[in-house]
Amino acid sequence: MNLTLKIWRQKDSKDKGQMVTYNVTDISEHMSFLEMLDVLNEQLVNTGEEPVAFDHDCREGICGMCSLYINGEAHGPDRGVTTCQLHMRMFNDGDTIFIEPFRAKAFPVIKDLVVDRTAFDRIQQAGGYISVNTSGNTQDANAIPIRKANADLAMDAAECIGCGACVATCKNSSAMLFVGAKVSQYALLPQGRVEAKDRVLNMVNQMDKEGFGNCTNTGACEVECPKGISLTNIARMNREYLSASVKED
Ligand code: SF4
Ligand code: FES
Repeated sequence: MNLTLKIWRQKDSKDKGQMVTYNVTDISEHMSFLEMLDVLNEQLVNTGEEPVAFDHDCREGICGMCSLYINGEAHGPDRGVTTCQLHMRMFNDGDTIFIEPFRAKAFPVIKDLVVDRTAFDRIQQAGGYISVNTSGNTQDANAIPIRKANADLAMDAAECIGCGACVATCKNSSAMLFVGAKVSQYALLPQGRVEAKDRVLNMVNQMDKEGFGNCTNTGACEVECPKGISLTNIARMNREYLSASVKED
């Protein structure tokens, strides 16, 4: 395939940035989207130009690092995949492809297609953990009965890889699908109930501080999420938040 690429180039966080046009040739339909960008970057390096900066790590849908907005969709036109799992067979010879960073106030652009998503780390640090006594007399987790339905829902929520596609897709730049998943994976298990109230209050508080918008139930986040995280996790987070906010006598 021969393709025209329109790519967002931005020197650093202060640069205004602009779309720049590139051409790539002989792209195999079996290549991943990031491999196609590798071909472009090799071309740029060979001609003495600055390669395009983009995030990636595992390249197998696990780490959540890859974060491209492709033809107006987070992670591109396929469903249930991250950018690194997107294949060039989703495109046609002669296509023009628009490639931009994930855009949100809380995800400032660092360079080209790389954005700063440490806001997610700070939300996690605010409550995305459980405190466990590791002195040697810890209760065996397998000795605590958990309903199968709850175990399954907790596992589904734990599939969130923190990629930020939900934020990039949402017209309000809301992070509620991400935070809902992180709150739910603990709220559904007895181990997570001990600190449940503080967790949801602190994580939602941090989410607001970071400048993410609110959820208005459009559902675009659920459609673009590569891990199929359900909107019901936002509803669960809201219930958890409400009950944690009610003062007990
Ligand atoms: S909820 Fe989905 S889209 Fe949002 S960060 Fe988690 S995996 Fe990514
Ligand atoms: S590079 Fe790890 S999920 Fe894409």
